[in-house]
Amino acid sequence: MKRNLLAVSFLMVLAVVLTACEGVSPMNEQPDVLLKEDPSYASDVQPIFDKYCLSCHGPVRAMRGLRLDGYEYVIAGSRMGAVVIPYSSTASLLAAGLEAGAMPPKGEKPSANRVKNIFHWIEQGAYDN
Ligand code: HEC
Repeated sequence: MKRNLLAVSFLMVLAVVLTACEGVSPMNEQPDVLLKEDPSYASDVQPIFDKYCLSCHGPVRAMRGLRLDGYEYVIAGSRMGAVVIPYSSTASLLAAGLEAGAMPPKGEKPSANRVKNIFHWIEQGAYDN
């Protein structure tokens, strides 16, 4: 009986410790964002560009002439032309690059939900919302 009690209290302590550990993700691993039905440029798209793209597509360095540090630049596109075609993620070079995992070419890639939110934003018209 005493042993059982000991075993039970051990399990309870274990449960508490495990619960406390839950939600602590390894360093460098970003918790995934939620999938949005109705993503907005300001809260769901620009933050992804800020984190994953600006080192090469910002004011300092703009590969292919493409800047992603503001809505007007994103819509203006690269030296080759538009990279976002409103309402069509399949026609948008930016979406193709994300889907293929080609962008960013090195380092941490945006999570699946982040990429999907960009796709939804394009498919809903790529508004400055
Ligand atoms: C480490 C640097 C680097 C990062 C970070 C980066 N890119 Fe690029 N990107 C490039 C280079 C270099 C090119 C041109 C060569 C190529 O197409 O592979 C390019 C090309 C592109 C193009 C095609 C432009 C054109 O007209 O050919 C798009 C669209 C693009 N990047 C989007 C993104 C997005 C979106 C992100 C962030 C998720 C991103 N890139 C992050 C280096 C980068």
